[in-house]
Amino acid sequence: MNSVKGFSKLTKVEKINWLAEQLNMDVDYDTKKAEEIKNSLMSYWHENSKIQNVFDEFSENTISNYYLPYGIAPNFLIDGKFYSIPMVIEESSVVAAASKAAKFWSQRGGFKTEILGTEKTGQVHFFWYGIPKLMEEFVAEVSNDLIKSTEKITFNMEKRGGGLRGLELVNLTNKLEGYYQLNLRFDTCDAMGANFINSCLETVGRELKEKVELKFNGPDKEIEINMCILSNYTPDCVVKVSIDCSIEDLNDIEPGISGEEFAHKFKRAVDITKIDTFRATTHNKGIFNGIDSVVLATGNDFRAIEACGHAYACNDKGSYQGLSEVQIIRGRFIFSMKIPLALGTVGGLTNLHPLAKLSLDILGNPSAKELMSIVASVGLAQNFAAVKSLTTTGIQKGHMKMHLLNILNNLNANKSEIEKVKDYFKDKIVSFNAVRDCLDSMRSKSTKAVIKDHISINNSPE
Ligand code: MEV
Repeated sequence: MNSVKGFSKLTKVEKINWLAEQLNMDVDYDTKKAEEIKNSLMSYWHENSKIQNVFDEFSENTISNYYLPYGIAPNFLIDGKFYSIPMVIEESSVVAAASKAAKFWSQRGGFKTEILGTEKTGQVHFFWYGIPKLMEEFVAEVSNDLIKSTEKITFNMEKRGGGLRGLELVNLTNKLEGYYQLNLRFDTCDAMGANFINSCLETVGRELKEKVELKFNGPDKEIEINMCILSNYTPDCVVKVSIDCSIEDLNDIEPGISGEEFAHKFKRAVDITKIDTFRATTHNKGIFNGIDSVVLATGNDFRAIEACGHAYACNDKGSYQGLSEVQIIRGRFIFSMKIPLALGTVGGLTNLHPLAKLSLDILGNPSAKELMSIVASVGLAQNFAAVKSLTTTGIQKGHMKMHLLNILNNLNANKSEIEKVKDYFKDKIVSFNAVRDCLDSMRSKSTKAVIKDHISINNSPE
């Protein structure tokens, strides 16, 4: 590969041609392979050029689309209402597990949620080296003016019931010389609100600088506005979700284990995540299998949601822990989780991506709060399904079934081969090589049988 100038200015076809040329120059690629890559990239373009243009504009230097499966998990009963939930995920078993858990809990009252808060934080980070008390007095004096300076930006948001809720100075000079924050609290209603928050912060940052320069003299005039940016840590934008049933109601969960045994074994598995980071990380990964897939399907920012969820899993307790909890109280099994979810149902990709829009339609065009409840429920369902499998049958049983299908598809098995191989692997360990060998021997046997038939037909007396 050579370096290139002005790549972003090339058209999409020019970009692909440049890439193919580079691959052609590479000794590991022959012309045919480069041509194949070129054709393959173009084969994933959407046939409708208007839609393709929309996808192209989401990012930069786009040359094709990257497909992921879009599935539906039905039977989610959340706060008394049934949902069929769109999930975008490449990992096998996740949608199946969510659907199974949803059905199980829909027969036991479903998921119950409570929104504990919707406030988001933005920060103006600045450095000032005067006497801290003077800065504290100054901010108290000008805080209303700082808030007022954002009026033009907050006007529409306020009409919708949101806006800038308050502003506090945080003095961190004991940790980092001269370092302060202005922490601003926002309610962004149904929008994720990143642009809104960042615009307000930059306005407040400029206003603060101007006011400091007017107020102080000498070296105290010097203020460095270091950064103005929202925080993706949103511990005050949180939903609580729970499922519960009597322990007796868990008796039919899996053959060979009573409800009582299951509930306690499940609780111990969750308790482990409170003391062991290795297990807590995987436990939370299972939760995010569910959360991310709905966050993606609805055009929300899964990196922000993940970053925040993992930070929340550490906070206050001083160590990273599992996000969910189990309580067994007076014969009832209660499984719950509190999770921060700063989601939007208007603006951004939610309106632009045709499938994100469709997902929101399928969900009945929820408010951001309702979407928080939905997403948290899928996270808890996924976590229930994973921990249930781990503590009963083991995770590989279900995984391997799906894995086997993926391998068979990869090896272009037909319907009858799929059935035969599935039957063969009912009681055997699945691996790519074992499946390929089984399929090869099956195919060579049937080829031999065809040849044998052919020979016997040709040799038969007329
Ligand atoms: C796999 O994607 C997720 C699990 O590992 C989660 C867990 O261990 O709880 C099954």
